[in-house]
Amino acid sequence: MRTTICELFNIEYPVIQGGMVWLGTWELVSAVSEGGGLGIIGSGNAPPGWVREQIRLTRERTDKPFGVNIMLMSPFVEQVIQVVLEEGVPIVTTGGGNPGIHIPRLKEAGVKVMPVVSSVALAKRLERAGADAVIAEGMESGGHIGETTTMALVPQVVDGVNVPVVAAGGIGDGRGLAAALCLGAHGVQMGTRFICAEECIAHINFKKKILEARDRATVATGYTTGHPVRCLENRMARQFAAMEARGATVAELEKFGEGKLQLGVIKGDIENGSLMAGQVAGLVKDIKPAAAIIREIVEEAERVIARLSTSYLGVANG
Ligand SMILES: Cc1cc2nc3c(=O)[nH]c(=O)nc-3n(C[C@H](O)[C@H](O)[C@H](O)COP(=O)(O)O)c2cc1C
Repeated sequence: MRTTICELFNIEYPVIQGGMVWLGTWELVSAVSEGGGLGIIGSGNAPPGWVREQIRLTRERTDKPFGVNIMLMSPFVEQVIQVVLEEGVPIVTTGGGNPGIHIPRLKEAGVKVMPVVSSVALAKRLERAGADAVIAEGMESGGHIGETTTMALVPQVVDGVNVPVVAAGGIGDGRGLAAALCLGAHGVQMGTRFICAEECIAHINFKKKILEARDRATVATGYTTGHPVRCLENRMARQFAAMEARGATVAELEKFGEGKLQLGVIKGDIENGSLMAGQVAGLVKDIKPAAAIIREIVEEAERVIARLSTSYLGVANG
Protein backbone atom coordinates (compact mmCIF):
# COMPACT_ATOMS: atom_id res chain seq x y z
CA MET A 1 0.00 0.00 0.00
CA ARG A 2 2.06 2.90 -1.24
CA THR A 3 0.68 6.44 -1.32
CA THR A 4 2.07 9.93 -1.92
CA ILE A 5 2.82 10.12 1.81
CA CYS A 6 5.09 7.05 1.53
CA GLU A 7 6.97 8.73 -1.32
CA LEU A 8 7.19 12.07 0.51
CA PHE A 9 8.67 10.61 3.70
CA ASN A 10 10.36 7.55 2.22
CA ILE A 11 8.38 5.13 4.38
CA GLU A 12 6.84 1.75 3.59
CA TYR A 13 3.27 2.20 4.88
CA PRO A 14 1.13 5.35 5.14
CA VAL A 15 0.80 4.98 8.91
CA ILE A 16 2.13 7.71 11.21
CA GLN A 17 2.44 7.57 14.98
CA GLY A 18 1.31 10.97 16.24
CA GLY A 19 3.76 12.88 18.41
CA MET A 20 2.63 12.38 21.99
CA VAL A 21 3.89 14.35 24.92
CA TRP A 22 5.55 12.00 27.50
CA LEU A 23 4.86 8.93 25.30
CA GLY A 24 6.53 9.71 21.98
CA THR A 25 9.95 8.55 23.17
CA TRP A 26 12.69 6.67 21.31
CA GLU A 27 11.26 3.29 22.34
CA LEU A 28 7.97 3.77 20.47
CA VAL A 29 9.36 6.00 17.72
CA SER A 30 12.09 3.58 16.65
CA ALA A 31 9.68 0.62 16.81
CA VAL A 32 7.15 2.37 14.56
CA SER A 33 9.77 3.45 12.04
CA GLU A 34 11.38 0.00 12.04
CA GLY A 35 7.90 -1.40 11.43
CA GLY A 36 7.60 0.58 8.20
CA GLY A 37 5.53 3.48 9.55
CA LEU A 38 6.68 6.94 10.62
CA GLY A 39 7.58 7.38 14.30
CA ILE A 40 7.38 10.90 15.74
CA ILE A 41 9.14 12.10 18.89
CA GLY A 42 6.73 14.12 21.07
CA SER A 43 8.74 17.06 22.34
CA GLY A 44 5.84 18.57 24.32
CA ASN A 45 7.21 21.07 26.84
CA ALA A 46 10.51 19.20 27.17
CA PRO A 47 13.80 21.11 27.18
CA PRO A 48 16.01 20.94 24.07
CA GLY A 49 18.55 18.61 25.71
CA TRP A 50 15.89 15.95 26.20
CA VAL A 51 14.81 16.22 22.56
CA ARG A 52 18.42 15.86 21.38
CA GLU A 53 18.84 12.75 23.51
CA GLN A 54 15.64 11.20 22.10
CA ILE A 55 16.80 11.88 18.54
CA ARG A 56 20.16 10.22 19.18
CA LEU A 57 18.64 7.22 20.97
CA THR A 58 16.17 6.75 18.10
CA ARG A 59 19.05 6.86 15.58
CA GLU A 60 20.87 4.15 17.53
CA ARG A 61 17.88 1.82 16.98
CA THR A 62 16.84 2.62 13.44
CA ASP A 63 18.22 4.11 10.27
CA LYS A 64 14.68 4.60 8.92
CA PRO A 65 13.08 8.06 8.72
CA PHE A 66 11.43 9.53 11.83
CA GLY A 67 10.23 12.97 12.87
CA VAL A 68 9.87 15.37 15.77
CA ASN A 69 6.59 16.96 16.85
CA ILE A 70 6.95 20.53 18.00
CA MET A 71 4.29 21.65 20.44
CA LEU A 72 3.83 25.34 19.67
CA MET A 73 2.71 26.15 23.23
CA SER A 74 6.08 25.00 24.59
CA PRO A 75 8.40 27.64 26.04
CA PHE A 76 11.26 25.95 24.13
CA VAL A 77 9.97 26.09 20.54
CA GLU A 78 12.94 28.06 19.17
CA GLN A 79 15.53 25.90 20.92
CA VAL A 80 13.82 22.65 19.87
CA ILE A 81 13.83 23.82 16.24
CA GLN A 82 17.54 24.54 16.60
CA VAL A 83 18.15 20.99 17.87
CA VAL A 84 16.08 19.53 15.00
CA LEU A 85 18.23 21.44 12.51
CA GLU A 86 21.53 20.58 14.18
CA GLU A 87 20.64 16.89 14.36
CA GLY A 88 19.42 16.76 10.76
CA VAL A 89 15.94 15.44 11.56
CA PRO A 90 14.17 15.00 8.19
CA ILE A 91 10.54 15.57 9.24
CA VAL A 92 8.71 17.92 11.61
CA THR A 93 5.06 17.87 12.61
CA THR A 94 3.55 20.60 14.73
CA GLY A 95 0.66 20.77 17.17
CA GLY A 96 -1.16 23.36 19.25
CA GLY A 97 -1.36 26.31 16.87
CA ASN A 98 -0.09 27.99 13.72
CA PRO A 99 3.55 27.18 12.88
CA GLY A 100 3.60 29.57 9.87
CA ILE A 101 6.49 31.73 11.10
CA HIS A 102 8.73 28.69 11.65
CA ILE A 103 8.16 26.99 8.29
CA PRO A 104 10.64 29.00 6.14
CA ARG A 105 13.54 28.24 8.51
CA LEU A 106 12.76 24.53 8.50
CA LYS A 107 12.21 24.39 4.73
CA GLU A 108 15.48 26.20 4.00
CA ALA A 109 17.27 23.40 5.85
CA GLY A 110 15.43 20.75 3.79
CA VAL A 111 13.13 19.59 6.59
CA LYS A 112 9.71 18.30 5.49
CA VAL A 113 6.98 20.04 7.48
CA MET A 114 3.52 18.60 8.18
CA PRO A 115 1.41 20.63 10.62
CA VAL A 116 -1.69 19.36 12.41
CA VAL A 117 -4.74 21.41 11.41
CA SER A 118 -8.32 21.41 12.61
CA SER A 119 -9.77 23.73 9.96
CA VAL A 120 -9.67 24.27 6.20
CA ALA A 121 -8.61 27.91 6.67
CA LEU A 122 -5.48 26.95 8.62
CA ALA A 123 -4.66 24.17 6.15
CA LYS A 124 -4.77 26.67 3.26
CA ARG A 125 -2.68 29.23 5.13
CA LEU A 126 -0.01 26.64 5.93
CA GLU A 127 0.04 25.32 2.39
CA ARG A 128 0.81 28.88 1.26
CA ALA A 129 3.52 29.09 3.95
CA GLY A 130 5.20 26.02 2.42
CA ALA A 131 3.88 22.98 4.33
CA ASP A 132 4.65 19.73 2.47
CA ALA A 133 1.49 18.01 3.76
CA VAL A 134 -1.09 18.59 6.48
CA ILE A 135 -2.61 16.36 9.14
CA ALA A 136 -6.37 17.00 9.37
CA GLU A 137 -7.26 16.02 12.92
CA GLY A 138 -10.86 15.56 14.02
CA MET A 139 -12.25 16.21 17.49
CA GLU A 140 -12.61 12.53 18.32
CA SER A 141 -8.85 12.36 18.80
CA GLY A 142 -6.94 12.16 22.06
CA GLY A 143 -5.17 15.25 23.43
CA HIS A 144 -5.86 18.82 22.28
CA ILE A 145 -8.83 18.98 19.94
CA GLY A 146 -10.62 21.25 17.49
CA GLU A 147 -14.35 21.38 16.80
CA THR A 148 -14.92 19.35 13.63
CA THR A 149 -15.09 15.57 13.27
CA THR A 150 -12.59 13.62 11.14
CA MET A 151 -15.37 12.44 8.81
CA ALA A 152 -16.42 16.01 8.01
CA LEU A 153 -13.01 17.69 8.19
CA VAL A 154 -10.82 15.41 6.07
CA PRO A 155 -12.67 15.67 2.72
CA GLN A 156 -13.04 19.44 3.13
CA VAL A 157 -9.32 19.85 3.75
CA VAL A 158 -8.61 17.50 0.81
CA ASP A 159 -10.73 19.78 -1.39
CA GLY A 160 -9.11 22.92 0.00
CA VAL A 161 -5.41 22.19 -0.53
CA ASN A 162 -3.16 20.62 -3.15
CA VAL A 163 -0.65 19.05 -0.75
CA PRO A 164 -1.27 15.50 0.55
CA VAL A 165 -3.55 15.18 3.58
CA VAL A 166 -3.15 12.73 6.45
CA ALA A 167 -6.28 11.89 8.47
CA ALA A 168 -6.10 11.76 12.27
CA GLY A 169 -8.62 11.24 15.04
CA GLY A 170 -10.68 8.14 15.60
CA ILE A 171 -8.59 5.79 13.48
CA GLY A 172 -7.57 2.53 15.14
CA ASP A 173 -7.88 -0.30 12.63
CA GLY A 174 -7.82 -1.20 8.96
CA ARG A 175 -11.40 -0.06 8.42
CA GLY A 176 -10.34 3.39 9.61
CA LEU A 177 -7.35 3.45 7.26
CA ALA A 178 -9.54 2.35 4.33
CA ALA A 179 -12.13 5.00 5.24
CA ALA A 180 -9.47 7.70 5.41
CA LEU A 181 -8.28 6.77 1.91
CA CYS A 182 -11.90 6.91 0.71
CA LEU A 183 -12.14 10.46 2.10
CA GLY A 184 -9.16 11.45 -0.03
CA ALA A 185 -6.43 11.24 2.60
CA HIS A 186 -3.07 9.70 1.67
CA GLY A 187 -2.38 8.23 5.08
CA VAL A 188 -3.36 8.14 8.73
CA GLN A 189 -1.92 9.36 12.00
CA MET A 190 -2.84 7.44 15.12
CA GLY A 191 -2.16 8.24 18.77
CA THR A 192 -4.47 6.21 21.00
CA ARG A 193 -3.85 2.89 19.20
CA PHE A 194 -0.09 3.28 19.58
CA ILE A 195 -0.36 3.89 23.34
CA CYS A 196 -1.14 0.16 23.49
CA ALA A 197 1.99 -0.75 21.56
CA GLU A 198 4.30 -2.95 23.63
CA GLU A 199 7.15 -0.48 23.16
CA CYS A 200 5.17 2.56 24.38
CA ILE A 201 6.36 3.58 27.85
CA ALA A 202 2.83 4.42 29.05
CA HIS A 203 2.10 2.90 32.48
CA ILE A 204 0.38 -0.49 32.29
CA ASN A 205 -2.54 0.91 34.36
CA PHE A 206 -3.19 3.46 31.60
CA LYS A 207 -2.90 0.83 28.88
CA LYS A 208 -5.37 -1.40 30.75
CA LYS A 209 -7.78 1.52 31.14
CA ILE A 210 -7.71 1.92 27.34
CA LEU A 211 -8.32 -1.81 26.82
CA GLU A 212 -11.34 -1.62 29.15
CA ALA A 213 -12.70 1.57 27.55
CA ARG A 214 -16.03 1.55 25.77
CA ASP A 215 -17.30 3.87 23.05
CA ARG A 216 -18.32 6.66 25.45
CA ALA A 217 -15.31 6.45 27.77
CA THR A 218 -13.81 9.85 26.91
CA VAL A 219 -14.77 13.42 27.75
CA ALA A 220 -13.54 16.76 26.46
CA THR A 221 -12.68 19.33 29.12
CA GLY A 222 -11.00 22.72 29.04
CA TYR A 223 -13.37 24.56 26.68
CA THR A 224 -13.36 27.54 29.08
CA THR A 225 -9.56 27.81 28.76
CA GLY A 226 -9.72 27.91 24.95
CA HIS A 227 -7.65 24.70 24.79
CA PRO A 228 -10.02 21.73 25.03
CA VAL A 229 -8.50 18.31 25.65
CA ARG A 230 -9.98 14.83 25.20
CA CYS A 231 -9.16 12.26 27.84
CA LEU A 232 -10.61 9.16 29.48
CA GLU A 233 -13.20 10.08 32.08
CA ASN A 234 -11.95 9.65 35.64
CA ARG A 235 -11.90 11.54 38.95
CA MET A 236 -9.43 14.11 37.61
CA ALA A 237 -11.59 14.85 34.54
CA ARG A 238 -14.74 15.14 36.67
CA GLN A 239 -13.01 17.51 39.10
CA PHE A 240 -11.71 19.63 36.23
CA ALA A 241 -15.19 19.80 34.67
CA ALA A 242 -16.74 20.74 38.03
CA MET A 243 -14.21 23.56 38.46
CA GLU A 244 -15.06 24.85 34.97
CA ALA A 245 -18.80 24.65 35.73
CA ARG A 246 -18.41 26.81 38.83
CA GLY A 247 -16.41 29.40 36.87
CA ALA A 248 -12.83 28.70 37.95
CA THR A 249 -10.27 31.03 36.34
CA VAL A 250 -7.82 29.83 33.69
CA ALA A 251 -5.01 30.28 36.24
CA GLU A 252 -6.82 28.05 38.76
CA LEU A 253 -7.47 25.40 36.12
CA GLU A 254 -3.88 25.49 34.91
CA LYS A 255 -2.60 25.12 38.46
CA PHE A 256 -4.92 22.15 39.05
CA GLY A 257 -3.77 20.53 35.79
CA GLU A 258 -0.05 20.90 36.51
CA GLY A 259 1.80 17.57 36.47
CA LYS A 260 -1.44 15.62 36.04
CA LEU A 261 -0.63 14.14 32.62
CA GLN A 262 2.64 12.65 33.80
CA LEU A 263 0.89 11.42 36.94
CA GLY A 264 -1.65 9.55 34.82
CA VAL A 265 0.18 8.26 31.78
CA ILE A 266 3.65 7.59 33.24
CA LYS A 267 3.08 7.06 36.99
CA GLY A 268 -0.16 5.16 36.42
CA ASP A 269 -2.46 7.05 38.83
CA ILE A 270 -5.54 6.46 36.71
CA GLU A 271 -7.94 8.31 39.02
CA ASN A 272 -6.01 11.50 39.86
CA GLY A 273 -3.94 11.82 36.70
CA SER A 274 -4.99 13.03 33.26
CA LEU A 275 -5.40 10.21 30.73
CA MET A 276 -5.36 11.81 27.28
CA ALA A 277 -6.92 9.38 24.78
CA GLY A 278 -9.37 9.45 21.90
CA GLN A 279 -12.85 8.03 21.30
CA VAL A 280 -11.27 5.15 19.40
CA ALA A 281 -10.05 3.77 22.77
CA GLY A 282 -13.14 1.54 22.72
CA LEU A 283 -11.77 -0.19 19.63
CA VAL A 284 -8.37 -1.02 21.13
CA LYS A 285 -8.44 -4.58 22.43
CA ASP A 286 -4.83 -5.72 22.74
CA ILE A 287 -1.27 -4.72 23.47
CA LYS A 288 1.15 -5.80 20.77
CA PRO A 289 4.39 -4.67 19.11
CA ALA A 290 4.10 -1.49 17.03
CA ALA A 291 5.21 -3.35 13.89
CA ALA A 292 2.38 -5.87 14.35
CA ILE A 293 -0.15 -3.05 14.81
CA ILE A 294 0.98 -1.46 11.54
CA ARG A 295 0.98 -4.75 9.64
CA GLU A 296 -2.47 -5.70 10.92
CA ILE A 297 -3.97 -2.33 10.02
CA VAL A 298 -2.52 -2.29 6.51
CA GLU A 299 -3.57 -5.89 5.82
CA GLU A 300 -7.08 -5.27 7.11
CA ALA A 301 -7.40 -2.10 5.02
CA GLU A 302 -6.31 -4.00 1.91
CA ARG A 303 -8.92 -6.71 2.61
CA VAL A 304 -11.67 -4.13 3.14
CA ILE A 305 -10.78 -2.26 -0.04
CA ALA A 306 -10.59 -5.47 -2.08
CA ARG A 307 -13.97 -6.62 -0.81
CA LEU A 308 -15.54 -3.19 -1.38
CA SER A 309 -14.45 -3.26 -4.98
CA THR A 310 -16.30 -6.51 -5.61
CA SER A 311 -19.30 -6.29 -3.27
CA TYR A 312 -20.94 -3.91 -0.83
CA LEU A 313 -22.13 -6.84 1.25
CA GLY A 314 -20.32 -8.15 4.29
CA VAL A 315 -17.75 -5.37 4.53
CA ALA A 316 -18.63 -4.32 8.07
CA ASN A 317 -16.30 -6.73 9.83
CA GLY A 318 -13.35 -6.52 7.52
C1 LIG B 1 -1.46 11.08 25.21
C2 LIG B 1 -1.50 11.94 23.97
C3 LIG B 1 -0.60 12.98 23.82
C4 LIG B 1 -0.59 13.77 22.66
N1 LIG B 1 0.35 14.77 22.54
C5 LIG B 1 0.41 15.48 21.37
C6 LIG B 1 1.43 16.45 21.18
O1 LIG B 1 2.28 16.69 22.06
N2 LIG B 1 1.46 17.12 20.00
C7 LIG B 1 0.54 16.88 19.00
O2 LIG B 1 0.62 17.52 17.93
N3 LIG B 1 -0.44 15.96 19.16
C8 LIG B 1 -0.51 15.26 20.31
N4 LIG B 1 -1.47 14.27 20.45
C9 LIG B 1 -2.34 13.93 19.30
C10 LIG B 1 -1.75 12.74 18.50
O3 LIG B 1 -0.51 13.06 17.93
C11 LIG B 1 -2.69 12.25 17.39
O4 LIG B 1 -2.87 13.23 16.40
C12 LIG B 1 -4.06 11.85 17.94
O5 LIG B 1 -3.89 11.03 19.06
C13 LIG B 1 -4.86 11.13 16.85
O6 LIG B 1 -6.11 10.74 17.32
P1 LIG B 1 -6.40 9.27 18.00
O7 LIG B 1 -5.99 9.43 19.43
O8 LIG B 1 -7.87 9.13 17.83
O9 LIG B 1 -5.60 8.27 17.25
C14 LIG B 1 -1.52 13.50 21.63
C15 LIG B 1 -2.44 12.46 21.79
C16 LIG B 1 -2.44 11.67 22.92
C17 LIG B 1 -3.43 10.54 23.05
